[in-house]
Amino acid sequence: MQPLNDYFTLLNTMESGAGEVAIDRSHNMFIIGALLSQKPDDVLELGIGTGYLTVSLIHALRYNGKGKLTCVDNWGDARGGDMEDVAGNLRMAGVNVVAPMEERTFLANSPDNAYDFLISDADHVNSGTWVDEHLRVVRPGGILFFHDTNNTVDYPNMSLITKRVRELDLPHYHFTKSSRPDERCERGLLFVVKR
Ligand SMILES: C[S@@+](CC[C@H](N)C(=O)[O-])C[C@H]1O[C@@H](n2cnc3c(N)ncnc32)[C@H](O)[C@@H]1O
Repeated sequence: MQPLNDYFTLLNTMESGAGEVAIDRSHNMFIIGALLSQKPDDVLELGIGTGYLTVSLIHALRYNGKGKLTCVDNWGDARGGDMEDVAGNLRMAGVNVVAPMEERTFLANSPDNAYDFLISDADHVNSGTWVDEHLRVVRPGGILFFHDTNNTVDYPNMSLITKRVRELDLPHYHFTKSSRPDERCERGLLFVVKR
């Protein structure tokens, strides 16, 4: 139970909205619940940001007792912080940190069906134009999450993700609602199952 206790402690120490950048607590819990239930072997996180979700994923994989986490970031949002320290800590926790690395380049060089669980929260300007690449690297039956999919004022191309998933008729659910003043779930979380 210790890894789950560590996860709950992390949840309690983060603000609900976790600041400007991170995934909201409710969406974090949904992603972690899916990972605890699906028991993936290979997890890909695009966009480390605050590390809030990354560390949550580490606790959940430890609880599962299986699964390898790969995280990709170009350190574009680093804002002067020493991201190599962040990367070092994540590597010590067993994470395969691929950084600095462009999302587009990483995906283009990844084999088909390499992952069974993917979270996309990196290149909000362009990633809507390569949804087929996200899908290509995930195995049939795998799970994908896309964050900020309803934040189309700031990031117009993010609407292309939901559009493409609907065109392909993939099972999905688009979470777009907040119910509390201290959360920003309306930014959107798209849950997709690869056929
Ligand atoms: C919104 S933050 C991720 C937030 C994270 N999910 C959390 O819970 O804190 C986006 C991250 O993606 C990275 N990023 C932005 N554009 C990228 C790109 N083109 N390739 C790789 N990483 C990118 C940024 O450096 C930043 O760390």
